[in-house]
Amino acid sequence: MSKQLHAHWSSRLAFILAVTGSAVGLGNIWKFPYMVGESGGAAFVLIYLICIAFIGLPILVAEWLIGRRGQKNPINTMAEQARLNGRSGLWTVVGISGVLGAFLILSFYSVIGGWSLSYTLGSVTGNFSGQDADGIGALFEGMLGNPGMMLGWHSVFMLLVIGIVARGVTKGLEGAVRTMMPALAVLLLILVGYGMTTGHFGEALAYLFNPDWSKLTGSTVLAALGHAFFTLSLGMGIMMAYGSYLGEDVSLLRTARTVVIMDTVIALGAGLAIFPIVFANGLDLASGPGLIFVTLPLAFGSMAGGTILGLMFFLLLTFAALTSAISLLEPVVEFVEERSPLGRVGSALVAGAGAWALGIAALLSFNVWSDPLLFGLNTFDLLDTLTSKFMLPLTGLGAIVFAAWCLDRDSVHRELGLSGAGSTMWSLAARYIAPLGVIVVFVGSL
Ligand code: PFF
Ligand code: NA
Repeated sequence: MSKQLHAHWSSRLAFILAVTGSAVGLGNIWKFPYMVGESGGAAFVLIYLICIAFIGLPILVAEWLIGRRGQKNPINTMAEQARLNGRSGLWTVVGISGVLGAFLILSFYSVIGGWSLSYTLGSVTGNFSGQDADGIGALFEGMLGNPGMMLGWHSVFMLLVIGIVARGVTKGLEGAVRTMMPALAVLLLILVGYGMTTGHFGEALAYLFNPDWSKLTGSTVLAALGHAFFTLSLGMGIMMAYGSYLGEDVSLLRTARTVVIMDTVIALGAGLAIFPIVFANGLDLASGPGLIFVTLPLAFGSMAGGTILGLMFFLLLTFAALTSAISLLEPVVEFVEERSPLGRVGSALVAGAGAWALGIAALLSFNVWSDPLLFGLNTFDLLDTLTSKFMLPLTGLGAIVFAAWCLDRDSVHRELGLSGAGSTMWSLAARYIAPLGVIVVFVGSL
């Protein structure tokens, strides 16, 4: 069935590295901990884990499956697969909303990537050493209060993303992912070790894993679901696009399990690194997007070798953010390139500049433009809410419904290597549990 319309990944490992590059990023280290803090801890974490296992994993497989059949970009793939299976052309919306979602996310993702760059430099210049919680907090507030500086870093970050995508060297990054992801994991481990010395590790553990169900509301469940999509790069056609480069020999279920476990371990590791510091310093759990930037520098500022470790950490975080941002820009560039006379470089510049401009509105919401714009949300919150809580789950829902209900069932089960009980389990998960899960959370939170 392999049509070899375009190049394939050299191996299962190359595919895992590329997918991991997209999945592991700011979502794990920056966003997950602050969402946990804002949502009250373990109840959120457990719902998130359930969403990952029963909704995220099947949708990841569904996106790869559709992509591997289509061997094209997500929009054309959805159009063609709908036609081949006698379905409405409306399914193309799944592909289109994916590209739009990627564009919107990239805009604010780059702003936070800029923060990470700024903290990389801050570690080298020794800004953090010997500071107490107030000093570190003041440094962060100083950055937020300086839109010009944030714009500078946002621009540098976006230029790096544009440069890499324009030169089409995305695949050259696989080797780097292979060494830098484990290094990031080791640094997280060191931070978790530091957390154990604070005397507040048990408190953090309980906070993360001992649920207080009274903290759970419809909106935190929706937040957990949305974050499951965000962290696995789902609902944006990105995994569909990656699947189109996938050979027939790769087991989708096994590979999905590997990727999901890696992504989850990194997120939980970040939580275990950050919350002991929060408790030890009496910091505000709900300090929002600034959480890692007011906790981790404290740890680096007071541990042996903290300057170099801090530098390494923020450098690796920036790298992880870059590989995710690249996967966000890539589909937008392909879209522009296909539908305009612009070449690769021109398309990368136009798509990147668009996301950059929108990012400025996002970064201003941390200072001069913090007033609500719509529905009580500022631009940053609006972009985040619109994508994570609405576009990603609905687009992902479209992908799983299509894969489970519109594709020929037998061929799907053969492709996944399923028979007997495995077959039943997949049908149950893909046809009922995952789609109904999204719908129930959605309706329940409204
Ligand atoms: N999954 C990335 C993260 O957790 O940081 C963010 C992301 C990348 C989201 C690519 C969506 C995407 F398509
Ligand atoms: Na992630």
